[in-house]
Order: sequence, then structure tokens, then C-alpha cells
Amino acid sequence: MTEELTLLFSRKEIAKTVARLAKEISSDYGNKKVVTIGILKGAFMFLADLVRLLTIPVEIDFMRIATYGSQRESSGEIKVMKEVEASLEGKDVLIIEDIVDTGLSLKFVRDYISAKNPASVKICTLLDKTSRRKIEVQVDYIGFKIEDGFVVGYGIDFDEKYRYLPEIFILN
Ligand code: IMP
Ligand code: MG
Repeated sequence: MTEELTLLFSRKEIAKTVARLAKEISSDYGNKKVVTIGILKGAFMFLADLVRLLTIPVEIDFMRIATYGSQRESSGEIKVMKEVEASLEGKDVLIIEDIVDTGLSLKFVRDYISAKNPASVKICTLLDKTSRRKIEVQVDYIGFKIEDGFVVGYGIDFDEKYRYLPEIFILN
């Protein structure tokens, strides 16, 4: 089967959305320092663009989780592949994710981070597939709400392909 890409969000649309999120986040946190936890690998490009536009002090860290299941569907069985390095005790943490789909990954990450006794935990996702949610998870900052469909590009992959693309595409 050949893979075809259809443009969903251009560089310009992404830049505009990332700038809006950075403005909202900067204004909400005031002068508080925020610790961003980027969820690897999908969120790396989004995080890099976002933090450049924040006007508050930021500490950057990452974690990586693995979800078992098929390439397109998460099973909800999750394992930590790379641990957070920063101490999160008493910190204001902002989780940065590429996509919320069923919500299972993010629910796991939120609970995992919350167990480290941060002062607060918020979530920022670039893409939100609201209609696919299986478990409720509060998302504080949302870039784009999208319909069901598999997306790639701007950090997001299919089988490690297309991550490097600067735009977001629908894969069919
Ligand atoms: P969830 O646990 O079902 O919410 O899955 C979220 C994770 O699955 C995201 O962080 C992505 O890594 C992956 N994912 C979900 N939808 C897509 C997609 O359309 N393209 C690529 N990865 C996706
Ligand atoms: Mg992910």
C-alpha cells in the first residue's frame, strides 16, 4: 500500500498556533518558572518552537514512554523508557505532548508526574482528537482540534517516518 500525504496544517498555521499558545502560557504563569516535560519523541519540534516564544523562565526536561499496541492504536499498556531527570518537587510542571488521542498515554503521564509532588501540573498538546477519547484527561492548552485521522510531520511519525517534515499532514 502506498502512503499518501495530504497537507493539514502549513508552517504558517503552525507558527500562528504555537505563538498563541506561548502567549497564553506566558500570561497564565506570570513570573513563575515553569518546568516543561516534553514527551519524546513526538513533541520535540513543538517544544523547541514553543519555548523560544515563552516570556517566562523555563527549565526543559523530557520523558519517553512506550505504548504497546499496533502502530496506529494505543493499548493503554505503558512503560517509562526515559525517566524525568529534573526534580519536580514543588515545581510548576507543564507537560508538552504532540497528540491526545484516546487519552490513555497522557493520563498515565499526568499521574506519573503528579506522584513527584509538583506544585502544579498542566498539559499542553499541539493536537487534540477529542472524539477518540476513551478516558477523561484535563488538557489546559490545545493547539488544534482535529477529526479522527492519522497525522504525521512536525515531530510526529508513522513507523519513524515523516517526523522531520515542517508541516502536518494526514496520512492515508
Ligand atoms: P493516546 O494514548 O491514545 O492518547 O495516544 C497518544 C499518542 O499516540 C500520541 O502521543 C502519539 O504518539 C500517538 N498517536 C496518536 N494519534 C496519532 C497520529 O495520528 N499520528 C501519530 N501518532 C499518533
Ligand atoms: Mg506521543
